[in-house]
Amino acid sequence: MKAVRYHQYGEPDVLCHEEAPMPEVGSDEVLIKVSATSFNPADAMIRMGLLKDMLPLQFPFIPNVDVSGVIEKKGESVQGLNVGDEVYAFLDMSKNGAAAEYAIGKAVNVALAPKKIDLQDAAAIPAGATTAWQALFEHGKLQSGQRLIILGAGGGVGSFAVQFAKWKGAYVIGCDAEESFAKLKELGIDEFVDYKKDAIEKKVTEKVDVILNLSPISSDDVTALLHLLKKGGTLVSTLNPADENAAKELEVNVVRMAVQPSAEHLAQIAELVDKGSVKPFISERLPLSKLASAHGKMGQTHGKVLILVN
Ligand SMILES: NC(=O)c1ccc[n+]([C@@H]2O[C@H](COP(=O)([O-])OP(=O)(O)OC[C@H]3O[C@@H](n4cnc5c(N)ncnc54)[C@H](OP(=O)(O)O)[C@@H]3O)[C@@H](O)[C@H]2O)c1
Repeated sequence: MKAVRYHQYGEPDVLCHEEAPMPEVGSDEVLIKVSATSFNPADAMIRMGLLKDMLPLQFPFIPNVDVSGVIEKKGESVQGLNVGDEVYAFLDMSKNGAAAEYAIGKAVNVALAPKKIDLQDAAAIPAGATTAWQALFEHGKLQSGQRLIILGAGGGVGSFAVQFAKWKGAYVIGCDAEESFAKLKELGIDEFVDYKKDAIEKKVTEKVDVILNLSPISSDDVTALLHLLKKGGTLVSTLNPADENAAKELEVNVVRMAVQPSAEHLAQIAELVDKGSVKPFISERLPLSKLASAHGKMGQTHGKVLILVN
């Protein structure tokens, strides 16, 4: 099959579009004929070797954790998924990914794709939306009527977090660059802070229940946000953590989260997509042969970059 692989850690130019062997299906796995994948910052961090202590790779390695496609084959112990099903998944980060004509997914991470959007577009959803879902509802315990700040609200994870929070009935204050404002307004955001012009600590006057940090600010800057939380509130960070002692003093909770693939969460997200409550924001569509260009755009996109395979 055709795949994009890398044989060593490095910059996007280590990505080679080449022939690779067809993957074998294990008993608890499915073989997916890939329709599309999408780029996530984690794909680039893994490629650069930044996560190699946690996620040691076997080279050559096929990147990209997001996939949509059709089940071509299934292992003997797989139940609830069938050959021919249109599915989407957030693949195991340490295993070969979806930048290929075929990919292997553990059945427990694979869900039926939303029916009301194009199967290729569904590949823009899994990792970003799963992160947003787990951050808000598992870690942040966000409830209807609560106040929420999202730093990085316009990014790949943030644009899902805004939609989930609005669906839940929360009041959402989004912080990002001005370029994201129109999109966030369309998503029904209640207040917007342009991080390039204003410090969020100065713009937000009423305390909030949950803060979700998706931005690359330092741990000191994340810790400074704790003053914006009500007592008992929670700050969830996907990047630098807040100081736990400062949190104890202020009687607030802090979580440095690590997202986990989950077919159950993807099934709930597919329902919301089919109801029209949530949609992916796709800024660019590229062929598989241009995957290096997508990896080279890390930190420069305001929507998901979709990689079309079949
Ligand atoms: N721990 C986990 O489990 C986990 C899971 C998923 C993702 N992540 C990480 O979470 C981060 C967000 O992911 P993503 O896919 O949403 O990335 P993304 O698409 O690059 O979005 C990040 C957004 O943050 C904005 N931003 C940058 N500096 C900011 C600041 N000081 N204040 C407010 N907003 C700021 C960016 O705007 P500009 O374009 O202006 O820079 C961009 O819109 C990534 O670093 C990713 O690696 C971690």
